[in-house]
Amino acid sequence: MADDIARNARARAIPGMGDAYFDPLLQDAGEGLEGPGGAMHRYARRPDGYTLGADDFDRDTWLLARQPRYTEAEHHRWRLLFESQRNMLPGRACSDFMKGFAALEGAMQGGIPEFAALNAVLEPATGWQVVAVPELIPDNVFFWHLENRRFPAGAFIRGGKPKTSKVRKANEGRAPEHIAYDAVEDDLFYLQEPDIFHDVFGHVPMLMDPFFADYIAAYGKGGRRAIEHNRLKNFGAIYWYTVEFGLIQEADGLRIYGAGILSSPDETLFSLYSDSPHRIMLNVDRVMRTDYVISDFQDTYFVIESLEALHRATAGRDFGPIYKRLPAGFTYATTALLDTDTVVHAGTQEYKFNGGKGKPRAHEHMTALRQAHGR
Ligand SMILES: [Fe+2]
Repeated sequence: MADDIARNARARAIPGMGDAYFDPLLQDAGEGLEGPGGAMHRYARRPDGYTLGADDFDRDTWLLARQPRYTEAEHHRWRLLFESQRNMLPGRACSDFMKGFAALEGAMQGGIPEFAALNAVLEPATGWQVVAVPELIPDNVFFWHLENRRFPAGAFIRGGKPKTSKVRKANEGRAPEHIAYDAVEDDLFYLQEPDIFHDVFGHVPMLMDPFFADYIAAYGKGGRRAIEHNRLKNFGAIYWYTVEFGLIQEADGLRIYGAGILSSPDETLFSLYSDSPHRIMLNVDRVMRTDYVISDFQDTYFVIESLEALHRATAGRDFGPIYKRLPAGFTYATTALLDTDTVVHAGTQEYKFNGGKGKPRAHEHMTALRQAHGR
């Protein structure tokens, strides 16, 4: 069930993964929302059990959920995540992320930010806004938001429900600053679904960059064409391997621009320093044929030369002819290396071959990386 929730929630960020795939959660989500109806109804329950009600939606524009009122415990979780991940950024996040982050930092510290405060900085810069949405929105709505420079962000924050009864019991009656969490990797600092921390901390700073801002808006526009050609899954891989898990070659080394990495301390280390994953220069056609990992670190990261080059590789390009020769679904496994790849680092894939997340050798792998890189 937890896996289904993670997949389902990630599907909001990853167009191309249809409803049918996520049936278990949809069946479970069942009832609960009075007010705005339609498909949104089925997406109304959050992983932490909170059920959205009519008050959580703006009545005039019912597709836009409002941010809920957060508890002090939720603000506290934001602060823990924010402080911890901010310390990970220098020398690891790309320079454009750092620039955007510096401009937004005032609106992001101290607790869960108000989207209005973020938008006051973001909108004058690139015309983008952050808008609250339920966990899942249909693909076409996701694209509609992006095309119109609205970044859909989950309004809930992770970690509200300790998994073990021992931790739950220990926390009863404690003040927020004394709340304990389950094993760190399993709970607060492991990204299971795109919550407000992932969406805001990870994505919004990059939207301050003009090339990246245009790139994501163009991606939203391209979504319609991908739907027409039934190639949404392939199209979704571009988003996954760039916006979520992209690396960039800078003058003094590899840096991160992908939000999925930048909102996860462990994947920050894994993507840059581990010998295990491949790192390959981005080729859009190749990426569209490549499968990806949903519930663990990536086996392959694609590297771009610059944000401008990324924008050039996609914007204004007619994907119609490409879709015609592109088989539906993926041709290449997550660990594939091709003769035609420009390889930055050929990975050992030892993390993968040792079983990945939760397996003892993978745990050792991460412990060694944390020790070597000061976390
Ligand atoms: Fe995301």
